[in-house]
Amino acid sequence: MTKQIISFTLLLLTGIFSLQAADSKPIRIGTNDIDLILKIGDNGRLYQSYLGERLQSEADIAFLKQGKEVYLTHGLEDYFEPAIRVLHNDGNPSLLLKYVSHENRKIDDNVTETVITLQDDKYPVEVKLFFTTFAKENIIKERTEIKHQEKKPITLYNYASSLLHLNADHYWLTEFSGEWAHEANMTERQLDFGKKIIDTKLGVRANMFCSPFFFLSLNQPARENEGDILMGTIGWTGNFRFTFEVDNLNGLRIISGINPHASEYSLKPKTVFSTPEFIFTYSTAGTGEATRNFHNWARKYQIKDGLADRMTLLNNWEATYFDFNEDKLIDLFGEAQKLGVDMFLLDDGWFANKYPRSGDHQGLGDWEETKDKLPNGIAKLVEEANAKGIKFGLWIEPEMVSPKSELYEKHKDWVIRFPNRDEYYFRNQLVLDLSNPEVQDYVFNVVDRLKTENPGIAYFKWDCNSPITNIYSAYLKDKQSHLYVDHIHGLYKVLERIQKKYPDLPMMLCSGGGGRTDYEALKYFTEFWPSDNTDAVERIFIQWGYSYLFPSKAMAAHVTSWGKQPLKFRVDVASMGKLGFDIRTHEMNENEIRFCQEAVKNFKRLSHVIGNGDMYRIVSPYEKDHAVVLYTDQAKDKAVVYAFDMHPRYAEILQPVRLQGLDANKRYKVEEINLMPGNHSALECHGKTYSGDYLMKVGIPLLSSSHLQSHVVELTAE
Ligand code: GLA
Repeated sequence: MTKQIISFTLLLLTGIFSLQAADSKPIRIGTNDIDLILKIGDNGRLYQSYLGERLQSEADIAFLKQGKEVYLTHGLEDYFEPAIRVLHNDGNPSLLLKYVSHENRKIDDNVTETVITLQDDKYPVEVKLFFTTFAKENIIKERTEIKHQEKKPITLYNYASSLLHLNADHYWLTEFSGEWAHEANMTERQLDFGKKIIDTKLGVRANMFCSPFFFLSLNQPARENEGDILMGTIGWTGNFRFTFEVDNLNGLRIISGINPHASEYSLKPKTVFSTPEFIFTYSTAGTGEATRNFHNWARKYQIKDGLADRMTLLNNWEATYFDFNEDKLIDLFGEAQKLGVDMFLLDDGWFANKYPRSGDHQGLGDWEETKDKLPNGIAKLVEEANAKGIKFGLWIEPEMVSPKSELYEKHKDWVIRFPNRDEYYFRNQLVLDLSNPEVQDYVFNVVDRLKTENPGIAYFKWDCNSPITNIYSAYLKDKQSHLYVDHIHGLYKVLERIQKKYPDLPMMLCSGGGGRTDYEALKYFTEFWPSDNTDAVERIFIQWGYSYLFPSKAMAAHVTSWGKQPLKFRVDVASMGKLGFDIRTHEMNENEIRFCQEAVKNFKRLSHVIGNGDMYRIVSPYEKDHAVVLYTDQAKDKAVVYAFDMHPRYAEILQPVRLQGLDANKRYKVEEINLMPGNHSALECHGKTYSGDYLMKVGIPLLSSSHLQSHVVELTAE
């Protein structure tokens, strides 16, 4: 036994922490409506006694059973998936965590942090569990810190952020799976005995194939307005894993964290290993309420500038792809101005000279303007855009490198690749090694140089098109299994520096469509790009899926020519998110341009409702060939309803749509907006005033059996 272990054992024998343990009352980690109650067992270990709707009487907590271990370890008596597994210096692979102490820190009236310290009773290994509660929004965040004082590094094999236990007769899991251009498809399945794992191994992004979020319904399939729902997500931009395990007593264990796949971590003495945050809510009123909890919390506490307005924009990706030059762009600024949007966003294709970025095969890494295309550089573009009264934004993909680039020629050692194997490419490119501080500096400098040389750049779209392939870091040498974790920490270091130097710079998070849609990255980004698929019908489904956890203002949605739907339909779908355009106005007639101008004005006028209000999903595109969504401001004075007919059957019989989320006692004037110039509303409710009670109990006809028809309806309380 080492000296450290002996003194640690002495500490134990003095009974310091067993005394504290015996004295401790249950630990109540609550919000206004949720309780997570932990108890310390007579054996000094920490158990989860309850998770669910808040208990009204404190005295009843004494009746709760002990429950199951909160942060299950490996090696002793439990037979299910552990939250943590370590290997000590002496080769012992076990851990037994006992409660030492806990403290509650009130951050403000709404936010409280509870920190629970656990320690192994034989080895100097300490685990701290952090719970942050947001009372009004009913959100709980959970993370873990692991530290030790053994002589040499210990190896961490599993290091979950959270382990939650649920008890019900049945469990229904909804996951959001997908692919490029086909993101966030919802599927629901019942969980039976055994395990279901949702994970990804993409390295630099959490999403593609599986999304880093889910919800679980107890006892019945999930419903929008009733039933017990746990909705959760992991704030991690890399490999994640959720394990759902139904045990022998029909208890469900949910373990969330970094995916431990190929990621054993050698932790030096006295250094802290900090896991990402698992963020969850629990609702007894269905997925609708759980969604509103997430949206309210995210806008107020998590997303960069979550409460501020977003800029509408014209982007040139689908409008021009790589085929543009200075004149064409200046022309486009005029089109942005005509549409009345706030900004023009220049996409991929503006950089590199030795290997100009004329397609996606080359140039990434060489972030100087291509002289042939842009002889007067970004500076001229900013100047011209500003002269037309619009802001200028720029696409970058600074974590990536093309094998055909000067950066690659100069710095192969910065690239994640095997020194002795052929390279495998995803979209013809490779990922830079952000575990290396020199590479972190380089990536930071891409942004910093552009901003220093062109302070007028008002926005970045930050892309990341390739997952990590050829997983090997020249920098990490014999610590290759640290790469997935250290790479993401390196990314956060870069983003932190950018945030510090440019706190007011809005940025869009993009990753070959919706590859990066996690709440840790969203601390640094004002919005994300949900999918490269901009077909309006597909977008109804994609935006619907993401809407479970992300507010509309965080989801960039552009009007393009991908789908061939009527322009109004496409604009109405995009107005349900963060409205933008990616289309040439010269493809439109005068009426269509006037329609777009009006729609932009309406979007801006109503952004406090659409962007910051409460969302109600009323008709699901998964159930019918229609979709209806309503947003209302918090005071319930103004609401906006979006109603879509996609491809309904002939002569379908349709009931009036019963609205939700209104004040039954208020009277609302109903007006259809976003009408084509010269068109009058065909809705019979247009121009009438109804009580909220009537609108919610009887409803109004908003749907039809026409194809690709949409209505946007504004409700104003009198
Ligand atoms: C990715 C993005 C697109 C576009 C292209 C540019 O695919 O998702 O929006 O920016 O890259 O290459």
